[in-house]
Amino acid sequence: MKILVTGGCGYIGSHTCVELLDNGYEVVIVDNLSNSKREVVDKIKEITNKDLTFYEGDVRNQELMEDIFERENIDAVIHFAGYKAVGESVQLPLKYYRNNLDSTLTLCEVMSKYNVKKLVFSSSATVYGSPKSLPIKEDFPLSTTNPYGSTKLMIENILKDLVIADNSWSIAVLRYFNPIGAHSSGLIGEDPNDIPNNLMPYIVKVATNELECLSVFGNDYDTKDGTGVRDYIHVVDLSRGHLKALEVINKTIGIDYYNLGTGKGYSVLEIVNTFSKVNNVKVNYKIVGRRPGDIASCYADPSYAKEKLGWVAEKDIVDMCRDAYNFVIKNKTK
Ligand code: NAD
Ligand code: UFG
Repeated sequence: MKILVTGGCGYIGSHTCVELLDNGYEVVIVDNLSNSKREVVDKIKEITNKDLTFYEGDVRNQELMEDIFERENIDAVIHFAGYKAVGESVQLPLKYYRNNLDSTLTLCEVMSKYNVKKLVFSSSATVYGSPKSLPIKEDFPLSTTNPYGSTKLMIENILKDLVIADNSWSIAVLRYFNPIGAHSSGLIGEDPNDIPNNLMPYIVKVATNELECLSVFGNDYDTKDGTGVRDYIHVVDLSRGHLKALEVINKTIGIDYYNLGTGKGYSVLEIVNTFSKVNNVKVNYKIVGRRPGDIASCYADPSYAKEKLGWVAEKDIVDMCRDAYNFVIKNKTK
């Protein structure tokens, strides 16, 4: 099977391309490199010892997308391409609505035209807003608290309407919890250019002395130690979930939604302490006020993904902390 991976040079996309190639799929990437580097393509080839096809360009470019579908015999699409920074989406909402919505609309139009109607879409646990209880199940009410989250929820609705209008589509909407970690080779991982917003990339930069001190956003939440609790999932486990989703959409029609998380919640301080211990490195931190918009706790009930996709996360928090640091150490010394 030949899979088109939009945003395949990015953090989750690159790991998914590795899993696809390792499992006998052919891979075509389209990425405009707005948040990634071209060298990732070579790293994917190096890890897998397999070839792939790369198109540098924008998913919103209909002509380019038609050209790709014309040349390649695409069987299914995994759609990662989009912007993902929550804070920036509040400052620049139009940038987020324009890119995330337009890329999906163009992609689906071109897929329709070429009669390729199998799609895996990257959604997010952010569509659950402030959950009424924990763990979070797929049928919980949906709401959003920022423009980024709204783009994900709007796209989920667009895809639902598409399936209602044409029941030959088969779509898996994957709601990711908090992906961290990196491939064990240390060749690919999360590599933000700017000061990171997310916890793990920030911890890594403090550990490598690129940043001075982690600000822990609040220790007065109603959680085990007062700091925020999240469901961290190893990016390789997450990527494998996409292959399971592909297998299912290949045999079914309609749209379905899956939480991809571990079901376990860890606090900020648990992550900091585990990271320090596993990697034998100090992480300076200070407690500061809450970050606006944050919720106390968020973790998945992943049982539906287990039942329907036959997928469970296998890696633990030690693997996640070790692999995240390994990637940065390897790439610093190069
Ligand atoms: P990323 O930024 O590392 O990867 C996205 C890739 O898409 C980048 O390589 C970027 O260059 C590319 N891209 C963006 N807009 C494009 C366009 N119009 N045309 C072509 N390429 C384009 O992000 P990621 O962490 O790998 O996330 C992948 C997807 O998963 C995103 O849709 C994101 O919203 C979603 N997601 C991520 C997280 C997370 O914490 N990382 C959580 C939930 C959902
Ligand atoms: N945190 C800190 N200090 C930091 C960064 C984060 O204390 O410098 C804390 C946060 O307050 C939170 C936890 O670490 O309690 C995790 O924060 P992240 O920013 O890493 O992740 P979020 O859960 O806030 O958001 C992430 C993605 C969103 C996605 C959401 C749900 O960034 O895109 O998970 O999937 F929508």
